[in-house]
Amino acid sequence: MAKVVQDLINYRPCLIWITGMSASGKTTLANNLCSELSQHEIPTYLLDGDKLRAGINSDLGFSELDRRENLRRAAYVAKLFLEKNFVVVGSFISPLHLDREVVKSIVGPSNYIEIFLDVSIDICRQRDPKGLYLKADKGLIANFTGISQVYEKPVNPNLLFSGEFDVNLASKEILEYYLGH
Ligand code: ADX
Repeated sequence: MAKVVQDLINYRPCLIWITGMSASGKTTLANNLCSELSQHEIPTYLLDGDKLRAGINSDLGFSELDRRENLRRAAYVAKLFLEKNFVVVGSFISPLHLDREVVKSIVGPSNYIEIFLDVSIDICRQRDPKGLYLKADKGLIANFTGISQVYEKPVNPNLLFSGEFDVNLASKEILEYYLGH
């Protein structure tokens, strides 16, 4: 089935990797993008940091090494789906340049599209849907991205969305970029 669709619209397996701080809108965008891709009958799989951490990666925390392992496993799971011709949308903070490069090399550079949600910590903090920034400010959560741990902004992402970006427009832009590359 996937092969037939692939022939019809000439899509190619790919990992669309969304990086940004907690509450930058990664999961919302990832869900929206998956719907957009599905509407074009592109077989899609959403890999989300929170979900992976709830199961397969529940042994991992947020130290630099644990994040590295979290992302390494995510990349290999993505690779399995790419081998079955899926477009995988990954939603992970992935704060370090080095780790994003590892993800890219695991799936193959030509199969990797990087989307950076350049949303300021002030906006993320205002949203704070899980109350994590509040807790991190009080010192109740260690290694919190943007507070007690660094977020290295991607230097050369394929696409970047900033501030209070429009999720629908962003999804369409990503789809266009993906289909054109
Ligand atoms: S990553 O850095 O290893 O890529 P990942 O995206 O899987 O992180 O998980 C981030 C999610 O874990 C956040 O959305 C947030 O809900 C939760 N979280 C819990 N503790 C932390 C922390 N110390 N830093 C960042 N996110 C945290």
